[in-house]
Amino acid sequence: MSNQECAVNRARVLGRLEEISRIGALENGGVCRLALAPEETESRARLIGWAQALGCVAYADAIGNLFLRFGNVGSNEAPVLVGSHLDTQPVGGNFDGVLGVIAALECVEVLSSQSDRAFLPVEIAIWCNEEGARFNPTTMGSAVHAGHFPLADALAITDAGGQSVEAALRQATASLRAAGISLAPRELAAKYRAYVELHIEQGPVLENEGSAIGVVTDIQGLVQYRVEVSGMAGHAGAVPMEGRQDALTRARALMADIDKELAAIDGLRFTIGRIDVAPGSINTIPARAEFTLDVRHPESDVLTRSAEQIERFRGRAQFTRLIYQAPIPFDPEIVRTIETVAQHRGLGSRRIVSGATHDAAHVAALCPAGMIFVPCRGGISHNENEYCAPDHIIHGTQVLVETVMALAGEPGQ
Ligand code: GLV
Ligand code: MN
Ligand code: MN
Repeated sequence: MSNQECAVNRARVLGRLEEISRIGALENGGVCRLALAPEETESRARLIGWAQALGCVAYADAIGNLFLRFGNVGSNEAPVLVGSHLDTQPVGGNFDGVLGVIAALECVEVLSSQSDRAFLPVEIAIWCNEEGARFNPTTMGSAVHAGHFPLADALAITDAGGQSVEAALRQATASLRAAGISLAPRELAAKYRAYVELHIEQGPVLENEGSAIGVVTDIQGLVQYRVEVSGMAGHAGAVPMEGRQDALTRARALMADIDKELAAIDGLRFTIGRIDVAPGSINTIPARAEFTLDVRHPESDVLTRSAEQIERFRGRAQFTRLIYQAPIPFDPEIVRTIETVAQHRGLGSRRIVSGATHDAAHVAALCPAGMIFVPCRGGISHNENEYCAPDHIIHGTQVLVETVMALAGEPGQ
């Protein structure tokens, strides 16, 4: 097959990205499409419409992951899965997640134009609540699908306004039904031939080195905590400074000590991303302070040691582990396939460890999995200024399409 026959359609890919970026658009160029919120549901409806026009059938599992199946619909033949997510951070960018979904759709576009060749079924996966910004934890949908997180526990999780995943899912499904979209049921932990995901790097390595394609070999490990510090409320003006039991003062000191300890560990990345203070009044001494802690490293033993060091501070606060995910290696055959495809296209590539976690980390437990990264400007992501140049989008999409074609090509073809 010539390069021309499986070339992605540049205008179609860029046009669709632009169209989805208008759903939940923010004033400064970013986007807000929280998991299962009306904006995310609208973007899912748009994707389903495009896929159905190509003959895909839409399925959903019990946690709201969507699967758009192309080819051999009705059979239970294990498909090649390709996808990402449409939810975003509250102030998110226009490429994190959506790029992988639009590129997955382009795989189906190209396959549908290859009527003279036989392929295994291919399914577009749109994972639910990858970001974990509305409902904690991150990668919730794929974790439940892979059996790494109990379904009942996930359905009971609530957002800041008290709405549960179950209620939000019911609402989103009802909106899709009102738009004439019905979803066939899909079991959890279904069988797949392989999984591939295209994503922006979200870091600076590819851009700094001038590599067009990152061939992801592993996802670094992650441990996340909720840390709760208690104190006693009192009047901000009337209670003397000495003898106060200010929960936030205690939390600030604890944060500084954790920072100092973790900064000494080579290659460790740690973030305090949220602080909540109760009762949260300008003239009341905080009775409770809560913060989150996100810690990552590519080596399992370093991550475990860091977690032990953090938990030695238990006497000063209550530490709840929200997630512990060991580093995930990807399938070496898929890594080689991606490399070969990039080389055939004349694209410079380099192997890379993913700093962010992704749904692929969970899907890797179900089937051989891999990821393709493309550079994003300045390595900026989870930020309205996130930007991926059109050439990078098209190169990444092209490598994804040809990787999927290689994985879905019938043996002997
Ligand atoms: C996902 O964005 C993560 O790495 O937390
Ligand atoms: Mn993402
Ligand atoms: Mn993200």
